[in-house]
Amino acid sequence: MTLLVTGGAGFIGSNFVLDWFAASDETVVNLDKLTYAGNVHNLISLKGNQHHIFVQGDIGDAALVGSLLAQHRPRAVLNFAAESHVDRSILGPGEFIQTNIVGTFQLLEQVRTYWGTLTGDEKSAFRLLHVSTDEVYGSLGARDPAFTENHRYEPNSPYSASKAASDHLVRAYHHTYGLPVLTTNCSNNYGPMHFPEKLIPLMIVNAQAGKSLPVYGDGQQIRDWLYVKDHCSAIRAVLATGRVGETYNVGGWNEKPNLEIVHSVCDLLDELKPRANGHSYRQQITYVTDRPGHDRRYAIDARKIEQEIGWKPAETFETGIRKTVQWYLDNPDWVTQVQSGAYRDWVAMQYAQA
Ligand code: NAD
Ligand code: DAU
Repeated sequence: MTLLVTGGAGFIGSNFVLDWFAASDETVVNLDKLTYAGNVHNLISLKGNQHHIFVQGDIGDAALVGSLLAQHRPRAVLNFAAESHVDRSILGPGEFIQTNIVGTFQLLEQVRTYWGTLTGDEKSAFRLLHVSTDEVYGSLGARDPAFTENHRYEPNSPYSASKAASDHLVRAYHHTYGLPVLTTNCSNNYGPMHFPEKLIPLMIVNAQAGKSLPVYGDGQQIRDWLYVKDHCSAIRAVLATGRVGETYNVGGWNEKPNLEIVHSVCDLLDELKPRANGHSYRQQITYVTDRPGHDRRYAIDARKIEQEIGWKPAETFETGIRKTVQWYLDNPDWVTQVQSGAYRDWVAMQYAQA
């Protein structure tokens, strides 16, 4: 039995692949384009594992995807591949349209063709699981109930609009062609191997480097944080027992304003790696120009996945953020390796006029 995982060298995809092999020796074909966000070093512990087949390539490359499906005959395709950073989508939406919409379309076409060749149990057991985001639902007011799976789609950034479009395509391929799809819409992840352009790893990395900790606007935007390994366990659970054609919201019941998140990171660093001068890392916080169109609040109502599938997160925010900060302290080489010239260029451009 084989899985085809796309985007398996990124943050969530590589955590998923590593966790998969911790519990199974089922082969994983890992298709990743290795954009700036893809990192084969995330998978270094799988070196020599013959059940992990890494292929550098694009989900939009129909010939490549078609041949991988024909050759490896997976029982499921899990689509993690995407452009994922909201700020980058604001600066340049083109790649988001290309990968998240056109790429997903090409992948769907190849999977539809492959699925059409299957028969009997192979055909009925096949699944395409599309990994998506809560951002497709737009922004909540302070007192609004959390997003359920029935919340209308109101994406506000080029990133979330491109993910919404991909979700619609996945839905349409089920409705029109009967393709056996599952979609998960997850809240903000954090944990090991998170690229330091996103809030939590950026704060951990900048704090230790003595740099400013840039909080957008008033820092009171709310996100619902989930430890990445809990997201991975949710995906495994949905793949195993999710109902075909359904969408499942995944979240940590951990709504927190950004400033509180930054304070938590500073306080943990104060404890685990105190500054030489004895002052708190909180002193490095600076308030910078807000993100254009910044969504104010996300919150996930995760009752469906709990009631239907029995999934619940294992980590609280307190346990997960401690593990995360400790991971970055234990892995300075990983941080140095991802802070390439291209990373420095991005940080210089994004925070120049902040
Ligand atoms: P990431 O940016 O860390 O990783 C994306 C991976 O996809 C990279 O390895 C990259 O090389 C690869 N990729 C990009 N374009 C590709 C293409 N055309 N073909 C093949 N591979 C390509 O992203 P992430 O945070 O790991 O997110 C993974 C998925 O989960 C995305 O679909 C994202 O929308 C979704 N998601 C992320 C979060 C979060 O908090 N990070 C939350 C909910 C959902
Ligand atoms: O909700 C799920 C989404 O979470 C995923 O779909 C996206 O792929 C993922 O990147 C994430 O999007 P966010 O925009 O919420 O994550 P980010 O880490 O970029 O920002 C989190 C919050 O922190 C957001 O309100 C913006 C703010 N922020 C971010 C950065 C990078 C700052 O205040 N300062 C910063 O420097």
